[in-house]
Amino acid sequence: MPSLPLRLSALFLALGLSACDDAPRFTKAEPGEARSGGATTVRKTDQNAFSLPSANLPPSRRVDFSVGNSFFRSPWVIAPSTTTARDGLGPLFNTNACQNCHIKDGRGHPPTPDSANAVSMLVRLSIPDSPAYATVIEQLGIVPEPVYGGQFQDMAVPGVTPEGKVRVEYTPVPIRFKDGTEVELRKPVLQFSQLGYGPMHPDTRFSARVAPPMIGLGLLEAIPEEAILANAA
Ligand code: HEC
Repeated sequence: MPSLPLRLSALFLALGLSACDDAPRFTKAEPGEARSGGATTVRKTDQNAFSLPSANLPPSRRVDFSVGNSFFRSPWVIAPSTTTARDGLGPLFNTNACQNCHIKDGRGHPPTPDSANAVSMLVRLSIPDSPAYATVIEQLGIVPEPVYGGQFQDMAVPGVTPEGKVRVEYTPVPIRFKDGTEVELRKPVLQFSQLGYGPMHPDTRFSARVAPPMIGLGLLEAIPEEAILANAA
């Protein structure tokens, strides 16, 4: 199967280089900066810093944290299995544990050029909508690719063909600012190969997503919905 290069719709990271005089200087700590999460702030700064319960979580609730955390870290397995709480992996999948993508509860990354799989970056697929798909759009918000579905899955259990491989290549894009400074941006180009189930719909749209960090989501969850709606209004 030939590899088919597909362009991410102009996804550029523009560098905002400001020479503004009143820009913050960061020479000393701002008020509250030492404990940015208030009483929840943890002191650890090593590579597990994002994986800790809030500092003020009472011991009675640390058990809940541990149970959730173990689900997040432990791999799912193929059913049937003796591990009935974590079975049901596949037949197609992206990876077998949450934290393979949300690395140590932090951010994922696009695959490096030589990596065997994409793991912590996934690619969503859709095709253009039309009135014929009204019900699907109502349910899913998008029209998934008819064969590969709404998410490209590059892994499979033994005996099943994975959907294929995806990697990212970068086209350098030189940019010149008004003041003459030259910088080089990288335009990501998704590269699919070894498609397991035939060609994709010719109008397939692609959306590559890197796993976001998990830290702080509990704090957002703690804000009552009415408070969010009141602010929106
Ligand atoms: C294959 C990689 C992958 C795996 C495995 C994965 N995630 Fe994610 N996760 C993502 C990506 C990518 C997003 C962002 C999706 C988007 O923007 O549409 C996300 C989003 C989330 C969010 C929402 C974050 C926010 O800011 O709203 C939560 C919560 C989450 N994942 C938890 C989990 C849990 C729990 C598991 C395991 C059961 C898991 N994830 C497994 C890649 C992954």
